[in-house]
Amino acid sequence: MSSKKIPALRIGNWEAEIPIVQGGMGVGISLSGLASAVANTGGIGVIATAGIGMFEPDHFTNFKAANKRALRKEIQKAKANTNGLIGVNIMVALSDFDELVECSVEEEVNMLFLGAGLPIRLPETLPLDKLGELPTKFVPIVSSGKAAKLIFRSWAKHFNHVPDAVVVEGPLAGGHLGFKREHLDDPDYSLEKLLPEVIAAVKPYEEQFNKDIPVIAAGGIYTGADIHKFMQLGAGGVQMGTRFVATCECDASGVFKDAYLNCKKEDIVIIDSPVGLPGRAIRDKFLKRI
Ligand SMILES: Cc1cc2nc3c(=O)[nH]c(=O)nc-3n(C[C@H](O)[C@H](O)[C@H](O)COP(=O)(O)O)c2cc1C
Repeated sequence: MSSKKIPALRIGNWEAEIPIVQGGMGVGISLSGLASAVANTGGIGVIATAGIGMFEPDHFTNFKAANKRALRKEIQKAKANTNGLIGVNIMVALSDFDELVECSVEEEVNMLFLGAGLPIRLPETLPLDKLGELPTKFVPIVSSGKAAKLIFRSWAKHFNHVPDAVVVEGPLAGGHLGFKREHLDDPDYSLEKLLPEVIAAVKPYEEQFNKDIPVIAAGGIYTGADIHKFMQLGAGGVQMGTRFVATCECDASGVFKDAYLNCKKEDIVIIDSPVGLPGRAIRDKFLKRI
């Protein structure tokens, strides 16, 4: 029987032997512990920045500085524990987006995953005319080919540079979802449908900028068969979140992991999250109260 090796995932000059990105998970779910464990096995480990400073003593009085300090510590801890690839996930909607991007670039993380909004602009303090020379590579997270087109068009025009990869997150993902509630079950918005749209959207930029731009599929990917399916559909890799939550290495509390382990299919519900998007969550006492 011949065995074929799973193809590596190249993002800029970085290569992950295993084409799996561990999705950034806030608040405090994916920090240096999970990220370095994933990186050590050849995947890409990602630290989530949402609420990262919550354990700093000045979190409430000096929010931005506390977040930045905590992020720097987590990046340094992750790097001390692995020689593999470490990314940082930053939501565009965060009020300290600029500070978190600056800190990650200063700490030379391998890549930045920018989602929850369109990363059209970047902090003015970055060398915006020489983005390609930075060791940190940029990977937007989108939910449509249209969003990918908007980002790539804007970057090409303003930075003469385009992102090095893109994550497309479909409606089956855990956490917040970039879709209207009525589209969640609509086959026109399935990941199988969105992936080729995003691949087509970035294709002209691969030619224009003479580089490969892998599209990474996310949302509801759980098994080796799922990974195979999306790679056959043209994905350069996959991003997985839920799958990692109940691992020993995950930074979440035991109670949080137990909620995942004990939950049944019917306990998973769609909620209207306070940020104005639908979200996929586990029905528990807290959800009932709010
Ligand atoms: C508990 C949890 C927290 C998450 N937090 C974030 C986050 O802070 N930023 C973000 O861009 N995505 C976040 N995500 C999405 C993941 O990065 C990933 O794209 C998603 O989990 C993929 O779908 P899957 O859970 O079906 O594998 C979160 C997902 C989960 C399950």
